[in-house]
Amino acid sequence: MKIDGKTKVFAVFGQSTAHSMSPIIHNASFRNLGINCIFIGLSSPSDKLDIAFAGMQTLGIKGAAIILPYKVEAMKYCTDVDLMAKQIGAINTICFKDDERIIGYNTDAQGAAKAILNVSSIKDKNILMLGAGGAAKAIGFQMGVEKAKSLTIANKTFEKAFELSDQISDIFEHRIKTFATGISKEELTQTLFNTDILINTTSIGMNSNETIITADMLRQDMVVFDIVYTPYKTRLIQDAEKVGAKIVHGADMLIYQAMEQERIWLRVKPSFEVMKQYLMKQLNSDIRIKSV
Ligand code: ATR
Repeated sequence: MKIDGKTKVFAVFGQSTAHSMSPIIHNASFRNLGINCIFIGLSSPSDKLDIAFAGMQTLGIKGAAIILPYKVEAMKYCTDVDLMAKQIGAINTICFKDDERIIGYNTDAQGAAKAILNVSSIKDKNILMLGAGGAAKAIGFQMGVEKAKSLTIANKTFEKAFELSDQISDIFEHRIKTFATGISKEELTQTLFNTDILINTTSIGMNSNETIITADMLRQDMVVFDIVYTPYKTRLIQDAEKVGAKIVHGADMLIYQAMEQERIWLRVKPSFEVMKQYLMKQLNSDIRIKSV
């Protein structure tokens, strides 16, 4: 990869970016496309965000992928926010324009939908979504866009589930039925009875063997989507495989949202296969390092 004075610089930006997979997949894609771009990690403490954004703009960074915990706060530093991102209330992508505009977008929502649509339609389906945080806001919103029949949001903190279900119902003027529930086994079992697509947006299962939905609660005729991608096959995904359900990997969402980011920044057509190949290589080597 040639790096010179004309190399365009992109970055993943968050509080801590050392373990982000974004540099792996974007650099693989840039190399494959043969474009003079590089993707790095940039971190900042929360009380220096104004300086960090001004710095990125002044130094000519072309675009940033925003990660935890700045997906909401970063909107303050944008001159324009895409309508969909505004409705979601969070951004994960920033484009620094030559005319000094800083535009915020959200590609998480479309990334999730694309990953699900590979195995199932969403229209008229009953969705159970675990979690009511930043990722849930984007995915829940997209379920409305895709015309799901109903969306039940299950969260440890019930109030947050209630608030998000209300918000989504309002945005789509009640065209999608929304419900809120807790995460006790009884509550989840009752909802799962009528669920076509189960989506985990919480961090449960990340680098652990935990799950709150066990194999006995799943059915073959369900779609199970876990946005967690470390490990590639979470306990929830392994259980879903066991019962013969259709599965959607968090890694696919990560890649689809990254492909959308490159389209926004560079108007290019990235390759899903190339990004996936390099992501899998990295995930597998992380497993090897941990087991040594
Ligand atoms: P993100 O932006 O990745 O969605 P977040 O905004 O911190 O991250 O949201 C994390 C979600 O995972 C929340 O819905 C959280 O539940 P609470 O709102 O009740 O805190 C959920 N979550 C995290 N750890 C959990 C656990 N051990 N059990 C149940 N829910 C958990």
